[in-house]
Amino acid sequence: MILVTGGLGYIGSHTVVSLLEKGYDVLVVDDLSNSTVDVLDGIETASGIRPVFEKLDLQDRQGIEHLFKSYTIDGIIHFAAYKAVGESVEKPIAYYQNNLGSLLNLLSEIAQSNKSIPFIFSSSCTVYGEADALPISEDAPIKPATSPYGNTKQIGEEIILDATRANASFKAIALRYFNPIGAHPSIAIGELPIGRPQNLVPFITQTAAGLYPKLTVFGNDYPTVDGTNVRDYIHVVDLAEAHIVALERILDGKANDAYEVFNLGTGKGSSVLEVVKSFERVSGLKLNYELGPRRAGDVVAAYADTTKAREVLGWKTSRSLDEAVASAWNWEQKVRN
Ligand code: UD1
Repeated sequence: MILVTGGLGYIGSHTVVSLLEKGYDVLVVDDLSNSTVDVLDGIETASGIRPVFEKLDLQDRQGIEHLFKSYTIDGIIHFAAYKAVGESVEKPIAYYQNNLGSLLNLLSEIAQSNKSIPFIFSSSCTVYGEADALPISEDAPIKPATSPYGNTKQIGEEIILDATRANASFKAIALRYFNPIGAHPSIAIGELPIGRPQNLVPFITQTAAGLYPKLTVFGNDYPTVDGTNVRDYIHVVDLAEAHIVALERILDGKANDAYEVFNLGTGKGSSVLEVVKSFERVSGLKLNYELGPRRAGDVVAAYADTTKAREVLGWKTSRSLDEAVASAWNWEQKVRN
């Protein structure tokens, strides 16, 4: 079966649904630090199948050993990690301990298993920092991380690369996500930020739902189309599907190198105001927003060069920004009712 760590989280749960729909047996592991068991019900509603679930903190080495003894694991998609940029600056040790400790425990278990277990790693376009050229290809240089969170992704990738070099049977793919948004069309699962959302789309939908009086647009004097930051917003279901394609690439022996990296995005940049307009279009509502100062640490613009994902991985997105924003809004309305 396929082990999905962090399988009750936002991207994890959508990937579990895609795996189940494709007929895979799925073992979900999650410590519930940023999710709830109710997500299992949502996964079951969306896919018609209830995956096996084990509550486990991956920093528990013995717990992982027990897990590998109890189940036959044929592949791993590793999402489980802390992911809040701001919080990582305040609690760097907790971020390094959790994100890297979990990764190291999994990798040592794989090494001990004497089995070839494909490994898919959840990485981020944050590794490119302020890229020198757009769109951003996988060859773009890695820039010094601007947060401990981003650093755990960079270090994580380096650790995995070294692990593939040391073990001829170990193959891994790191997927560098641009900005995932939206929800499964069934709206049985979606994004559930705890507290005030830091990310743009959940903040927009929660504002429209009346939880906040207005959205503040962080900066309108950037050298972009309308002065606001440009990002590559990708529908979470498109993103989820890429994980299965990546997993099958290794399972089917099609990976060229023991360690490969792919950018996952649409290739199209959208400004903050374009996302606001998309929301207004699909919801028929007017969003209350103000133009405010820049947010520290934001890059001006980031969107993916999708060539490698398309030509080598054989994957591309099929869902539009409007479709993604509409699904996020449908989900928000469901959560609030
Ligand atoms: C952020 C992280 C990134 C991480 C990702 C995970 C930073 C610098 N980057 O991406 O490393 O992988 O989250 O979720 O934190 N915006 C507003 N008003 C708001 C919220 C956001 O104008 O209330 C703007 C931001 O300034 C940005 C855009 O919306 O231009 C997208 O922001 P966000 O959703 O936080 O994503 P990133 O900053 O791209």
